[in-house]
Amino acid sequence: MKRRTIQTLMILALIISVAMVMGTCASMKGKSKAMIKMPVAIKGATYEGTEACADCHEDLVNQFKGTIHGRLADFEVKGHKGCESCHGPGSVHIENDGDTTKIIRFTNVGKPGGITPGEASAICLRCHAKDAGMDWRGNEHALNDVTCIDCHKIHQDPAKGTLKMPEPQLCYQCHQDIRAKVNYPSHHPIREGKMKCTDCHNMHGTSVNNLKTEERTRDLCLKCHADKQGPYTYQHPPVEEDCTICHDPHGTVADNLLKQNEPFLCLQCHHLHFHTVFYSPVNGQNRMIPNPHGSQMAMGTRCTQCHSQIHGSDLPSLSVPGQGKGLTR
Ligand code: HEC
Ligand code: HEC
Ligand code: HEC
Ligand code: HEC
Ligand code: HEC
Ligand code: HEC
Ligand code: HEC
Ligand code: HEC
Ligand code: HEC
Ligand code: HEC
Repeated sequence: MKRRTIQTLMILALIISVAMVMGTCASMKGKSKAMIKMPVAIKGATYEGTEACADCHEDLVNQFKGTIHGRLADFEVKGHKGCESCHGPGSVHIENDGDTTKIIRFTNVGKPGGITPGEASAICLRCHAKDAGMDWRGNEHALNDVTCIDCHKIHQDPAKGTLKMPEPQLCYQCHQDIRAKVNYPSHHPIREGKMKCTDCHNMHGTSVNNLKTEERTRDLCLKCHADKQGPYTYQHPPVEEDCTICHDPHGTVADNLLKQNEPFLCLQCHHLHFHTVFYSPVNGQNRMIPNPHGSQMAMGTRCTQCHSQIHGSDLPSLSVPGQGKGLTR
């Protein structure tokens, strides 16, 4: 009987935990679906056309004409274009002398009385479903309530484009930790302006870490560092696996974007061998003796002084007959 009760309890516990897991999945799905949807339409409002807005928003209408959305031709857009393509039909807003509760606003997104971040994105996605919107639903930014207009600005001098501010400042607003790394001594030339975050990241995509590669992280690195591609006769497994095992792409204190200095970097996977022993005749035979100062000496040596072909080599090393895969030349 007792065992039966325990069994029943265990089965019950299992059912409950499965239900809980399914529950979280369902609520997560529910959340991401609810997140991106069109806002409720303003009751009774009809479309009045951009010229109707000019009566009271003359400056904005004039400036808008120069922007990419202001220059759209009819054939480029299904449905409405102009101011109301984003702000929704404006008749009630106009009839009520510019009542701001009767028009869709983007200046109070996520605040009480404002549209949600998901609703703000949905308005853009009506027309951008096929480019930026393709993978937006699973995008890490979307899942964290970042919206299109956190990065894009619609009403600004057309010469400035559509980004709120240039990279990387745009990204640093929210990614302070990455800014700190980019300022480390070893870094990709981002702060010199020769590279952008979006050289490696796709802002609208869903790959892990938003990386610009459908394949492995390694393939992304090899786009610009083809000399490390191989295949080599003598390969180094971690290099084949993922460059970021040893390198941090954003910046490091150690040289060469290395996550740690040598030999510590290498000692995560290897033992010290150099300087740690020496050979000495004992009873007429050459014996291996631990070197009392060995570790100290070896610790002060960079492994790549000898293993210079750390990414792979086509030439056998010569020191130990029959071995030769030491990545030394
Ligand atoms: C009769 C004058 C009038 C007309 C016409 C008019 N508006 Fe307004 N609108 C206003 C006033 C007044 C405000 C409030 C301004 C403020 O608070 O700075 C306003 C505010 C807004 C806001 C909210 C701004 C914010 O704070 O986020 C939006 C969006 C807007 N109008 C869009 C439109 C659009 C689109 C049209 C054309 C369909 C239009 N308006 C036509 C008078 C008008
Ligand atoms: C492509 C979408 C889009 C279109 C088209 C658009 N807006 Fe906006 N509007 C926005 C967003 C997003 C904001 C929030 C601030 C920003 O990003 O510039 C905004 C802000 C505003 C504001 C309040 C802030 C301010 O600068 O005063 C007003 C008023 C406004 N829009 C009116 C208009 C009018 C009038 C038109 C047509 C000439 C228009 N909008 C066309 C998306 C749009
Ligand atoms: C009525 C349809 C429509 C709406 C709504 C709309 N767009 Fe666009 N947008 C377009 C079209 C069409 C283009 C020009 C074609 C292109 O380059 O993709 C464009 C261009 C852009 C570009 C510049 C692309 C480039 O090549 O430089 C950005 C960025 C952009 N839109 C962002 C937004 C954002 C953010 C919103 C929502 C606030 C939005 N759009 C709403 C239709 C729309
Ligand atoms: C985290 C910042 C960020 C967010 C959020 C974001 N974008 Fe972008 N977007 C960019 C950057 C940066 C570019 C410049 C293109 C590049 O170099 O990848 C860009 C480019 C674009 C373009 C030009 C064509 C293209 O695909 O490269 C369009 C259109 C666009 N964005 C629309 C949108 C829409 C619509 C949303 C919301 C669904 C959105 N963006 C959200 C940063 C962002
Ligand atoms: C040379 C390619 C490259 C460049 C340039 C780059 N990144 Fe990354 N980023 C990566 C890789 C690869 C990852 C995967 C995680 C890792 O191994 O560090 C990543 C991860 C991230 C992450 C998520 C994980 C984390 O480390 O916090 C953020 C956020 C990020 N990058 C932001 C940025 C920003 C902001 C910029 C521009 C200042 C930038 N990245 C420039 C390659 C790059
Ligand atoms: C408005 C704030 C905001 C801006 C601006 C912004 N991000 Fe993010 N970003 C976030 C948040 C929130 C997350 C999710 C949580 C996290 O990983 O920090 C995120 C996540 C990421 C990730 C990690 C995705 C993953 O799979 O873990 C990358 C990469 C990234 N952002 C790159 C960028 C780049 C590049 C820019 C500039 C073009 C940028 N972000 C601009 C808020 C922002
Ligand atoms: C868009 C091109 C591009 C991509 C993608 C790229 N790099 Fe780089 N990388 C560069 C440039 C440019 C430099 C600077 C070269 C110079 O200064 O001579 C550099 C330098 C480096 C350096 C040497 C840094 C130093 O301090 O001298 C390392 C290590 C490196 N990259 C690793 C990586 C890794 C790992 C990845 C993949 C996560 C990657 N790179 C992706 C362009 C790229
Ligand atoms: C096992 C650790 C490790 C892995 C994995 C690794 N590297 Fe390196 N990388 C190093 C070390 C150590 C140096 C410094 C070399 C030196 O000082 O001789 C370096 C230097 C570099 C440099 C700058 C100097 C040069 O040779 O141009 C680049 C670029 C680079 N690595 C790219 C890559 C790429 C791309 C990958 C992935 C295909 C990768 N690394 C994988 C350890 C590694
Ligand atoms: C993430 C683990 C890892 C790191 C970090 C690492 N290695 Fe390796 N290394 C390996 C593996 C796995 C092998 C293959 C061993 C085998 O084939 O028996 C290897 C092989 C080697 C070989 C060839 C020896 C042989 O017998 O095949 C040398 C030399 C070497 N590593 C040196 C280094 C140096 C120097 C560093 C630091 C710059 C380093 N490794 C960092 C995992 C690592
Ligand atoms: C003074 C030169 C020198 C230094 C410094 C050095 N090695 Fe070696 N290492 C060698 C030689 C020579 C071999 C034998 C290569 C061959 O012919 O196969 C070797 C072999 C290896 C092997 C192959 C397996 C083994 O134990 O025989 C590994 C792994 C290795 N070294 C890792 C390291 C690491 C990690 C460091 C840094 C802590 C390091 N080495 C420092 C010269 C050196």
